[in-house]
Amino acid sequence: MTERWTPSSWRAKPAKHLPTDYPDAAAVERVETELRRMPPLVFAGEARRLKGLLGEVAEGKAFLLQGGDCAESFKEFHADNIRDTFRLILQMAVVLTFAGGKPVVKVGRIAGQFAKPRSEPIETIDGVTLPSYRGDNINGMDFSEAERVPDPERLLKAYAQSSSTLNLLRAFAGGGYADLHNIHRWTLGFVEGSPQGARYRELSDKISESLAFMAAIGVTPESHPGMKQVEFFTSHESLLLGFEEAMTRVDSTSGDWYDTSAHMLWIGERTRQLDGAHIEFARGVRNPIGMKVGPTLEADDLLRLIDTLNPANEPGRLTLIGRFGAEKIAERLPRLMAATRRAGRSVVWATDPMHGNTRKANNGYKTRPFDRILAEVKGFIDVAESEGVHPGGVHLEMTGQNVTECIGGAREVLEGDLGDRYHTHCDPRLNGEQALELAFLVAERLKSARDGLRAAS
Ligand code: PEP
Ligand code: CO
Repeated sequence: MTERWTPSSWRAKPAKHLPTDYPDAAAVERVETELRRMPPLVFAGEARRLKGLLGEVAEGKAFLLQGGDCAESFKEFHADNIRDTFRLILQMAVVLTFAGGKPVVKVGRIAGQFAKPRSEPIETIDGVTLPSYRGDNINGMDFSEAERVPDPERLLKAYAQSSSTLNLLRAFAGGGYADLHNIHRWTLGFVEGSPQGARYRELSDKISESLAFMAAIGVTPESHPGMKQVEFFTSHESLLLGFEEAMTRVDSTSGDWYDTSAHMLWIGERTRQLDGAHIEFARGVRNPIGMKVGPTLEADDLLRLIDTLNPANEPGRLTLIGRFGAEKIAERLPRLMAATRRAGRSVVWATDPMHGNTRKANNGYKTRPFDRILAEVKGFIDVAESEGVHPGGVHLEMTGQNVTECIGGAREVLEGDLGDRYHTHCDPRLNGEQALELAFLVAERLKSARDGLRAAS
């Protein structure tokens, strides 16, 4: 693909999952023009910084933790929700860093994760058929004709929500909340009395002891201001290309194009066609890019996609996010990992253990069994170890809220509990406790790999 790229060159390519039924095309253009004038949400230098950190992950020196809502919504928009997702990521990062002995790169599915690809364009309930819900930046979730009409004004609302979400995240990350000395305060109320809460307390006691020791020898947040802060990045699926195009700007420092709607953008499983619009858009922006990799992808097609998205083989540019399902991973992943390793392509390999493990419960709720999620994570690490590839990260749908959306976990959510607190706007998320349990499992595996390396050296 050597044709010239522009922020709008995707418009000449076939595009899947874009809404085509806006009643007023001129209104969409007006909104896009308005968005072009809006301040960027992130800076190119920050996206480059994340690319550098992901380059460390690609080299096996760090680990990627990416997570957040399946879909953010206008209804669930609240400072407490943002804080709870943020502190859950901090807690998981502590668990992973402590065990793995490597820095954890923290990336939220947040501050822009609205648009959803849907398996069916229409939905029928009790004989009434309406267009499917496609994310709050496109149409509304309520099952009524008026709500399901796409409305471009929603893009402006989503931009504003992303902007204030990011503002709060920046304050949390830099303003003292993320100081490791607060480690005990990050525990979510409902996790406090759980088995995971107890394990976390034990770990944070150890870290507090180390901090006290460091303070005694003069290493304090006052002498080392970096101790008070964390680096936190944002990401979302680059699905709604009109919006992404409007947020794409030339960086004055480098002269390169960056999509300033988030630090990292990823391409979904359903829109990664080599000649399609979504790949075309992503190939020209210089942000770190993720790409979902599912069970139907063959190794030669994967290599072609890699060469289109990362022709210079730049470490950190491309993160492959496997989402096979626990039953398929052992069969599908090895040949793909072997292909990238043999071809010398620098990529981050991460696992999304959520999207291949979705099923409908008997009571109609879409759910994911926690044991299948853990099985896919284990399968991912097993395959990576046998292929000699760094198991670079996890990509999760999770929330700091005490929801009942995925069944299982140490304090078991049963099928019959799904109706209790099922709040997701799209796919079922891990609750805080399940997410922490998963972090402990990954940590144990990383630790045994580390101990194994030590014993061998
Ligand atoms: C998602 O990440 O919410 C998603 C739709 O995933 P996938 O593209 O892997 O199906
Ligand atoms: Co999802």
